[in-house]
Amino acid sequence: MDDAKPTADLGGKHIVLGVTGSIAAYKAVGVLRALRDHGATVSVIMTRGAAQFMTPLTFEVLSGRRVVTDLFEGHETMPHLTMSEDADAVLVAPATAHFLAKAALGLADDLLSTMLLNVRGPIIVAPAMDGDMWTHPTVAQHVDALRARGVVVMDPEVGPLASGRVAQGRLSSEIKILEAVQVALCPQTDWRGQRVLVSAGPTQEPLDPVRFLSNRSSGKMGYAIAEAVRARGGEVVLVTGPCALAPPSGVTTVQVNTASEMADALSQRFASCTVLIMAAAVADFRPRVTASGKLKKQGKHEIELALEATPDILGMLSARRTSQVVVGFAAETEQVLPHAKEKLRGKGLDLIVANDVTQAGGGFGSDDNAAVILSAAGEQRVFGLMPKRRLADEILNAVRDMCLMAPRGASLVE
Ligand code: CTP
Repeated sequence: MDDAKPTADLGGKHIVLGVTGSIAAYKAVGVLRALRDHGATVSVIMTRGAAQFMTPLTFEVLSGRRVVTDLFEGHETMPHLTMSEDADAVLVAPATAHFLAKAALGLADDLLSTMLLNVRGPIIVAPAMDGDMWTHPTVAQHVDALRARGVVVMDPEVGPLASGRVAQGRLSSEIKILEAVQVALCPQTDWRGQRVLVSAGPTQEPLDPVRFLSNRSSGKMGYAIAEAVRARGGEVVLVTGPCALAPPSGVTTVQVNTASEMADALSQRFASCTVLIMAAAVADFRPRVTASGKLKKQGKHEIELALEATPDILGMLSARRTSQVVVGFAAETEQVLPHAKEKLRGKGLDLIVANDVTQAGGGFGSDDNAAVILSAAGEQRVFGLMPKRRLADEILNAVRDMCLMAPRGASLVE
């Protein structure tokens, strides 16, 4: 678990943590600790499958409570009723495909599945399984059925799986699971009513059908912002270049490849948004000509590429705005603040998030980032290295405080 501070306190909340029989069951230990670190009391129910991977003792020591695995065991006569009635929320992490099927169909053949039928508070489910299982139509049907009933089913993450394959199926990170519980129990609503257009990821500018010019952007910062807006009650459209990330739940996602496609997708939606956050690393240049067939070497030892500038999407949209708040990013390798101030003024922005992409532990591809946020009115907030998801919340706090709540004045930036 990283050192993320809670965005909402879970003090006084009681969570039932269901652990099912996935290889990711060991990660439930971290989830349990994170819940307790944030003030919650936790009771753990393990399925028989989970007990093949982990011992109840581990969870008993860390939760400070007896772990129940069986409907008919122990001192309680009706644990499925008492446990569900005491719970403010039920979290199942990891959840297997088998568990999703049982929960979707209302089958009740063990304590966890039986108590689910008596839960009144929110139910959050974090699946973990192999990629082909997650995309299997039956699993997808069960996920849809659960979501339609209001169960929060998190999308598993893309990454290396126990099978050795890289696919979508990894248990969501502790911070995301914790966030989902916090949002379900104590929803933050300070972005409710905002319609936010977020861009993310790199663009790819084709040279020919098999080659393109691009950059190292992973999209993590933009996706984290989209998730944070959603978690805080706002509506989000995420326009994203090619990224290896699962689209965030509850966010309308539009996939694009080139700068020009990104410009079109954002232009179409700009008039109806209240805030634009341009986190994409748009390629500045593209090949002047895209060959229709694969370029051949034909014995050449060097070639020259003719490049032309792509549209400055942010500058163009900022010039067209009516009442929208416009936020840009400045990814710099030197003279970070002077360059960021120049972009803030030159592109007519309300706010810019400047970061040094050469900093160790931050920048492209990393899960962490450090940044300086500058407003057109001359305010400044400095943030050291932190998870991008947390920085996303800080960016939203700054936009809220400096732009949405403050009247937009004349630029004071020199
Ligand atoms: N941006 C854009 N369209 C482009 C290039 C950049 O909308 N063709 C946006 C980025 O999404 C970012 C901001 O402009 O929010 C600054 O991008 P950056 O790459 O840091 O700066 P550039 O304007 O490209 O200038 P330079 O490459 O000279 O630093």
